[in-house]
Amino acid sequence: MRKTIIAGNWKMNKNIAEALELVKDLKIKLEGVADTEVVVCPPFLAVNAVSQLLKGSNIKVGAQNCYFEKKGAFTGEVSPAMLKEAGCAYVILGHSERRQYFKETNDFINKKVKAVLAEGLLPIICAGETLEEREKNIWKEVIKTQITGCLAGFTKEEVSKMVLAYEPVWAIGTGKVASKEQAQEVHKFIRDLVEKLYDKPVAEALRIQYGGSVKPDNVSILMNEPDIDGALVGGAALEADSFVKLVKFEKK
Ligand code: 13P
Repeated sequence: MRKTIIAGNWKMNKNIAEALELVKDLKIKLEGVADTEVVVCPPFLAVNAVSQLLKGSNIKVGAQNCYFEKKGAFTGEVSPAMLKEAGCAYVILGHSERRQYFKETNDFINKKVKAVLAEGLLPIICAGETLEEREKNIWKEVIKTQITGCLAGFTKEEVSKMVLAYEPVWAIGTGKVASKEQAQEVHKFIRDLVEKLYDKPVAEALRIQYGGSVKPDNVSILMNEPDIDGALVGGAALEADSFVKLVKFEKK
């Protein structure tokens, strides 16, 4: 059985004080939740304070990015070791906003995944097609290239630890959520691809989150699909009440 994982990607929202206010609330309201893994991914500057506050709780902390080098003259970058020391367990890598605005390539993301795993952190690796790619019906090629590129060179053991996230670009921040059929089709496609690249046990153990306009009123419909193992949430993760509803979605 794959344990559901609900992660909040706060993107470039919340200063340190606001971040602490939100997690104080989450800590109380999510106390005792054990059947779902909960992760919050604040901006870098709030990671340490949030981790301190969540110490001993059932909520884990993730970062939204990192660089692949251990240390050195890389102005403005943050290493996996720094994130670990600051209390992170997860790092989101290859988000479409990083691919789009910062020109991240699969090869570059692959190096970061390697560095994150080497530090004992767990990557949440994002993939997803644009609206144009979906309309041209080339999403399979796009996602295959992204996943194959990001996973290149990893062992079965390493892949088993990873979390993948299917985030159709057209659904991110648009309110246009993928239908359960659309999302399930892609998740199954990704799982089958991982089975081809590795083997069945690896594919079956792998958790694949859906991301893109997940809200309290659509979370349950998506999460009850057989190959959807959680959600990577943007906007609805910024308020305690909506994030709590997402974590406590109705299981069928
Ligand atoms: P929204 O939930 O705001 O659509 O964002 C999704 C996302 O990009 C999470 O990484």
